[in-house]
Amino acid sequence: MARILITGKNGQLGHELQRSLAPLGELIATDRQELDLSQSGERIEQALDRHYPDIIVNPAAYTAVDKAESDEETANAVNADAVGAIARWATRRGALLVHYSTDYVFNGDGERPWREDDATGPQSAYGRSKLAGEEAIRLAAPHHLILRTSWVFGAHGANFLKTMLKLGQERDALKVVDDQIGAPAPAALIADITAELIREYLAKPAGFAFGTYHLAPRGETSWHGYAVYLLQRAAESGLALKIDPANIQGIPSSEYPLPAKRPANSRLCCDKLQDTFGIALPEWKSGVDQVLAQLLSPAANSGRPPREWP
Ligand SMILES: NC(=O)c1ccc[n+]([C@@H]2O[C@H](COP(=O)([O-])OP(=O)(O)OC[C@H]3O[C@@H](n4cnc5c(N)ncnc54)[C@H](OP(=O)(O)O)[C@@H]3O)[C@@H](O)[C@H]2O)c1
Repeated sequence: MARILITGKNGQLGHELQRSLAPLGELIATDRQELDLSQSGERIEQALDRHYPDIIVNPAAYTAVDKAESDEETANAVNADAVGAIARWATRRGALLVHYSTDYVFNGDGERPWREDDATGPQSAYGRSKLAGEEAIRLAAPHHLILRTSWVFGAHGANFLKTMLKLGQERDALKVVDDQIGAPAPAALIADITAELIREYLAKPAGFAFGTYHLAPRGETSWHGYAVYLLQRAAESGLALKIDPANIQGIPSSEYPLPAKRPANSRLCCDKLQDTFGIALPEWKSGVDQVLAQLLSPAANSGRPPREWP
């Protein structure tokens, strides 16, 4: 039975991975207390020696994109240095390393969906740290999967969808940027596909197609289009909103300045993943519908109608 170690078990993706990977082997799910990725590589490798996993799945990351601008050192420690230490350990042990990265490694130019072999050009400290993590893996661990994804959300954890549900109940006017284009990726989808890929690896490790893959749902939208859609669906599900979703105003990013620059083009081309593993990716709206159903169903609210978002 494979020993599978997950980092960052309390994150959006870490939470879903505990569910999706459970049938595949013995899970060792760790949080920041059990495996702190800001500590030295030596300490990280000692922790891995203790657990001795066959597979390491690393959704933990420094994901505070704006904070990273003024704390690049910690972002690098977690997103790059720790990842390098994990990659070196994985190679010594002969373990598979599954890691996650982001569309923020690209410069956001153009309108064509980014392909895995396109030139990178991160525009933020977070993007630079994530790219450095990828490069450390490619250098040290041939047996890796790097899954680049975008706009992650889920029922567990903090994310744009949950923020919009809250604001939609509190405000009668909202402005959301409409010049950044991408696809919201459900943590559950990423976790399910991770499980599928690991299953394939376990069945045939020798012929496995290691490497970097893009993983996002089909289709594209802006943050504005995403907000309008999710609030329309929430209203249809009975959530009492103050805002009329049709009145959410689209604004350019320049009217919503943030410390970290976001890519305008966050589209990810996922042909390589689909062609290599025969995976059919769903359209982005279906993931939004599923998470809303989870969040707004009476069962999820202990039988009470959803009134206010925590
Ligand atoms: N969120 C997005 O929109 C997005 C988009 C593209 C790619 N990604 C990538 O997808 C992956 C999963 O993202 P996510 O949305 O699930 O992230 P998340 O919800 O922010 O979770 C990140 C996890 O990392 C843990 N962590 C942070 N610093 C740590 C440290 N020093 N030691 C150990 N654990 C630490 C956090 O622990 P605590 O719970 O203790 O804080 C948290 O559990 C990441 O690699 C991220 O870069 C995310």
